[in-house]
Amino acid sequence: MSIFKKKNSGYISAKESSKISRENRRTTDQMEKRLNRKNVDPSEYTTKMRDENNVVEFDNLHTYFFTDIGTVKAVDGVSFDIPKGKTVGVVGESGCGKSVTSLSLMQLVQRPQGQIVEGEIRFNGENQVYDIAKTPIQTMQSIRGNQISMIFQEPMTSLNPVFRIGNQVDEVSEYHHPEMSKEEVKKRTIEMLELVGIANPEGVYNMYPHELSGGMRQRVMIAIALTLSPKLIIADEPTTALDVTIQAQILDLLRNLKDHINSSILLITHDLGVIAEMADYVVVMYSGRVVEKGTVHEVFKNPSHPYTIGLLNSKPMVNKQVERLYSIPGRVPNPIDMPNYCYFRDRCEMCLKKCNGEYPPEYHLSDSHIVSCYRYENKEVKTDE
Ligand SMILES: Nc1ncnc2c1ncn2[C@@H]1O[C@H](COP(=O)(O)OP(=O)(O)OP(=O)(O)O)[C@@H](O)[C@H]1O
Ligand code: SF4
Ligand SMILES: [Mg+2]
Repeated sequence: MSIFKKKNSGYISAKESSKISRENRRTTDQMEKRLNRKNVDPSEYTTKMRDENNVVEFDNLHTYFFTDIGTVKAVDGVSFDIPKGKTVGVVGESGCGKSVTSLSLMQLVQRPQGQIVEGEIRFNGENQVYDIAKTPIQTMQSIRGNQISMIFQEPMTSLNPVFRIGNQVDEVSEYHHPEMSKEEVKKRTIEMLELVGIANPEGVYNMYPHELSGGMRQRVMIAIALTLSPKLIIADEPTTALDVTIQAQILDLLRNLKDHINSSILLITHDLGVIAEMADYVVVMYSGRVVEKGTVHEVFKNPSHPYTIGLLNSKPMVNKQVERLYSIPGRVPNPIDMPNYCYFRDRCEMCLKKCNGEYPPEYHLSDSHIVSCYRYENKEVKTDE
C-alpha cells in the first residue's frame, strides 16, 4: 500500500505548493510596497468616525494569511465598535481570530504573509481619525505605544531578560518624549511602578525580570503599557499565565486603572468569567467572524447564538450542580477551506432547513444586541439604523 494518499482532502503536491507560493508572493509584494511608501498624503489614510463616541470602529475587517498550502481567512468580515472609556471583551475558542483582530489594529500581524485585505479599522486618534488598514508603517510607529498599547499574555517573554526593569520602562518615555530629561523619565517610571501596585518601586527599578514573580512582571508590563496614557489598551489574555489569586489582583488593577486614566480596553480572553467581571460589551467570535455581540447584560441574560449558548453551558458555575459539563460537539472548520453556509452548522444542535443556504446575515435583537443566526430571522426588532 502506498504511503502517499493523493486524494486526501488536505493533500497538496510540491508543484501546487510552489505555484501557490509564487502567487502569494506576487499578492503580498504589492501590498507591502503600498505600506512601505514614505511621505504618503494623509488624505489616503485619514477618515471620519461613524460615531464620535467610539475610539475604534472595526468595519468589515478581513485579515488573511497567504501560506504555501492556501489562504487562511483568520479574520473574515469582523465589525464591532469600542466606545470611549468602555471595556469590550472578545471571546471565542482557540484559533477563532481574536489575536489576529487585535494585532491588525496595531499593524502587528506577521508580515508579509499576513495582510489586511479588505475593510477599515477607524481609530479616533489625538488629532485625527486614522484608517489603520491603510496607514503607512512610518505613521503607525508613532501611534503604537503612544496612543494604543498592548499587554501580552506572557510577561516573561515580553520583558528583555538582560535589562533592568527601570531601563525597560524608561525606554518608552525616552522613545516617545525625547525632550524629557533623565530625571524626569526616572520620576515618571517610579510613579508608574507605584501606580500598578509595586510596593518597592525604587528597588524594583534596579532589578532584572527574573528577580520578580509572574504577577509582578505582569504589573511591570501594565506600567509600560500605561506610561504614555494611551487612548486604548489591548489586553490579550492578560492573566492566562498567572495563578488564580494573582489573576484576580491583576484584573482588579486593570479595572481601577481604567477609570484612573480614562482609556478604553479591548480585552481578549477565552474565559467568560473574566468578561462578566470586566467588560461593558461582549463580542463572540467563531471561525474568524462575529456571531453575536451586545452589552454584557444582554449576552449573559439572553445568549442567542447556539455557539454562545454552548459556551455558557460549558462554563462551570459555583452555585449550580450539574452532572456533566456540556461540551460543544464537533470541531472548528479548517480556516483554509471555509464552507459557504453558517460556519457553525456542522456543530449546531438547533439547525433549521434554511441553515443549508448562505451564511446568515446579522439580525438585531435590540440596538446593541446583534446575532448572525437564522433562528432570529423573524424576531428582529426595528432599529434606527
Ligand atoms: N502567522 C500566521 N500564519 C498563518 N496562520 C496564522 C498565523 N497566525 C495566526 N494564524 C491563523 O489564524 C487563525 C486565528 O488565529 P488567532 O491567533 O487570532 O486565534 P485566537 O483566537 O487568538 O486563538 P487563541 O485563543 O489560541 O489565542 C488561526 O487559524 C491561526 O492558525
Ligand atoms: S444559522 Fe442555523 S446552523 Fe447556524 S447557528 Fe443558527 S441555527 Fe445553527
Ligand atoms: Mg490569541
